[in-house]
This record gives sequence, C-alpha cells and structure tokens, in this order.
Amino acid sequence: MVRTVSIGEADVLVIGLTSSDDGPAIAPADAFGDVLDAETRATLLTALTAVGAKGKGEELTRVPAPAGLGVDSVLAVGLGALDKIDAEQIRKSAGVAGRALSGVDTAVTTLSGLDLGAAAEGFYLGAYTFTPYKGKSAPKPEETPVKRVEFLVPDPGFGEEALFRAQAVAEAVATARDFVNTPPNDLFPAEFADRAAELAKAAGLQVEILDEQALADGGYGGILGVGKGSSRPPRLIRITYAGGDKKVALVGKGITFDTGGISIKPAQNMENMTSDMAGAAAVIATTLLAARLSLPVTVTATVPMAENMPSATAQRPGDVLTQYGGTTVEVLNTDAEGRLILADAMVRAGEDEPDYLIDVATLTGAQMVALGTRTPGIMGTEEFRDRVARLSQSVGENGWPMPLPAELRADLNSKIADLANVTNHRWGGMLSAGLFLKEFVTDGLQWAHVDIAGPSYNTGGPFGYTPKGGTGVPVRTLIATIEDIAAE
Ligand code: BES
Ligand code: MN
Ligand code: ZN
Repeated sequence: MVRTVSIGEADVLVIGLTSSDDGPAIAPADAFGDVLDAETRATLLTALTAVGAKGKGEELTRVPAPAGLGVDSVLAVGLGALDKIDAEQIRKSAGVAGRALSGVDTAVTTLSGLDLGAAAEGFYLGAYTFTPYKGKSAPKPEETPVKRVEFLVPDPGFGEEALFRAQAVAEAVATARDFVNTPPNDLFPAEFADRAAELAKAAGLQVEILDEQALADGGYGGILGVGKGSSRPPRLIRITYAGGDKKVALVGKGITFDTGGISIKPAQNMENMTSDMAGAAAVIATTLLAARLSLPVTVTATVPMAENMPSATAQRPGDVLTQYGGTTVEVLNTDAEGRLILADAMVRAGEDEPDYLIDVATLTGAQMVALGTRTPGIMGTEEFRDRVARLSQSVGENGWPMPLPAELRADLNSKIADLANVTNHRWGGMLSAGLFLKEFVTDGLQWAHVDIAGPSYNTGGPFGYTPKGGTGVPVRTLIATIEDIAAE
C-alpha cells in the first residue's frame, strides 16, 4: 500500500458515509479538507441515497463513478454518526471495504483523512485471505485480495510513521492468522518451531529450540506428559528480541492439535482444535513485531508446543507428572493439557527475571461460556490485568478483566500430588485454570493471563476487519501493552 495526493488512475474510490436523522452525508476528510468538489459530492450523495445508502456502520454501497472522477466506481462504506466515529469504527469500516474490494487492482480512499493509521490497519486486516490449500479450487481473480490501496494524503510525507506501524501490525496479525489457519497435519510441534525459528532468524533475533531430549534433560514434565501420546514429539522454542532494559516475558499455548488425549473430546467441532496454538502464534508474531518496531524493551517468547493425542504412549487420567521447577501435578483430565505445558514455560520464563509476564492461551471452553466468542478473559495481578484489559479495549480486541477467586484454589488440591490439573466441578472453569497457572508465576512478578479460546478463531462469517478462521487476537493487545511499557 502506498500514499498518493490525487485520485489518479485507481479503479475504485472508497469514501466514508456518515448517518444522521437528516440522511447520510459524505464523511469529511479532516486531515486534508475535501478532495472531492462540491458538485461531485452532491452527485455522489444523490446516487448513494437513491440506492438506499444510510451510512450505518460498515454498510457497503457501490455506485458508478460520476464522469471525470478518474475511477470506475465508488464504494461508500458506512461510519455511523459523525460524532461517534473513533479509530475502531474506522478500522472496522475500512476492514469491510478491504474485503469487498477483492478482485480489484487498485483502490484509492479518503478514509485516510479521518485517521490514516486506523484506515490502513483496517484495510490490511480486512483484505486478508488464506489460500495455500485451495488446490483445484484456486481462487478466481474476483476472489483475490485487492492488489493495492492508495491513501489520499495532503502531501507525500504525511503520516509516514502511522502508515509504517499499521503495515507492521497488520503483517504481524497476518503471521499469527497464517499459523492458526495452517492445518494440523502440516503444523506439528517440530515444524511449528522450525517455521517460527526461520522467521525469527530472518529478523536477526536469538532463537533456542529444545527438542524432546533437551526437554527430558531439563525436566519439562508438563510438556513431555502432554506430548507423549503423539508420534510427533514436543518442542519448547525461545525467541528473544533484546531491545532494552525493561523485560517482558511472553508465553503462548502451542497445542498444534487438541484431541483431548485419553479424556477424548467429542467428534463434533473437534476440527476447530487446529486453533489450539493461537496463543503461541500470537506471542511469536508479537515478538517479531516488537523487533520490527524497534521498541526499547527486551521481549522473550517462551513457547511450549505439543500435540495432544490419545495412544498407547499417551498419559493417563491419574498419572502424576513433575512440572519444570519441581511441582507435582495429578493429571485428572488429559484434556486440561494447556495449563500443563504453560506451567513449564512460565517457570522457565520467570528464571529470566522479567518485569512483566503475559501468557496467552486458548485455555478453556468456559471462557466462551462466561464472555462469548469475541471477548478475551484477562486474569492475573490486579493492576497489570486491568492495564492490559484497558489497552485491549483501546485497540478493539476488547479483553475484559476477570477475577481469580481465592476460594476456588482449594478445589485444585490433589490427594497424592501438589496440585490437580482440574477441579471436580465446572463452576468458574476459566478462573480455576487461571488459579492453576498462578501457582507457577514467580512471586512479585506483574502477570496477565489472557484466555482467547473464542476470540482467536472465528468459526462464523467474517465481520469488520475479522475474517473467518484465525483472527490474530491478541497480537494488537500485546503490542499495545509492550508499547505502553516502553513509554513508562
Ligand atoms: N483447548 C481447549 C479449550 C478450548 C475449547 C479452546 C474450545 C477453544 C475452543 C482446552 O484444552 C480444553 O480442552 N479445556 C477443557 C478444560 C476442562 C477439561 C477443565 C475445557 O474447556 O473443556
Ligand atoms: Mn484440551
Ligand atoms: Zn487445549
């Protein structure tokens, strides 16, 4: 995507349309005044109104371009009431426009006049597609993403930084989405680690991969216990971007497929468990992004990867394993596997003495029972939890603070080990998972635990800038948090 100062030779012009009681209006391009003359605006508004455009949020209306405008058609995207437009509305509207532009070579937009960064982020995120597995049904030209979107700006240097950040952020989100969308036959632990390592090395970052032997030598009993049912052994990958004195540790759940293990899941919807590595994908993509943005912070991703399979070598309900660091855990349910691999990784991450720890996981179905499919649950130490939630809301990922009720902790007591991996009831399942993880957080460390079981994977139709499949949540929450820490 590029910037331009004139409408030029684009095929489609994308404009914003606001709504009001007096009918729709063409959104102003505040940053540089009106690009369209009064007559063109009037002609366009008449045409748009004639075909029923109202300017409601994310509404799409396409009309032939008035003569002399230099484009074939005009795509109007609704922004809602003018006084309620915020960055998230611009991202969402740009997102639906970006998706609607499939098959178009070049589009040009005035949405950059409202907020260049938000508009660019929205177009990039909305235009995302994942097609490497399309084989014989390869996408037709009209199904391919728009090749080029130009943003009208008052002068060529305008908004350079915002545009750079938007592109970097959107590409990081796409990296996370690509990992999540890659099917589990191709993305198994060793392959996932190799692909992540390749990206990290290309970005000049430090990489360390522990294979099954190194995990055994190191005492990573949680990762090994979960991984031992699979013919494809587990990994722990560590990626470090050394950008400054402040240290942020990221940990992400990397279950490349979750059958539940011996406590096997029902067949219905089990295919969605290809997304059980979305936390891993997000923290890997965020670490690369922190480097790309040259943030003055050191970020280390510690990412456990395993495939949770039932087999003759799988762990059993009732097995006791020893986590990295020595805590023993009675595995009462092999489907509560995420917390077992995370516990090892969180203890390892704590050894680096970070200032902050954020773990991200598709951890519990209970997250969706509590908050629905689009709202991440955020737990942890209160102040940092609230800070991450606030930042998450500011970027439109909408994480919400949740408690870790002390009284639930006793329900994780085991008769024979230090801890059990599940309670014997289903109340507050997201919170008891958080309480389990809390046992593995170094004392005094500021910690946030983000449960993204629903928000990381969209099983419904596309909406706003969010496609079907991997969403890339919570990459934008994580980078906003790291930027906030960098600004301390
Ligand atoms: N990966 C699942 C959680 C999940 C469910 C993510 C649906 C996305 C969509 C996790 O490993 C799991 O199976 N959790 C169990 C925990 C239970 C056994 C305490 C669950 O939520 O049922
Ligand atoms: Mn599970
Ligand atoms: Zn899982």
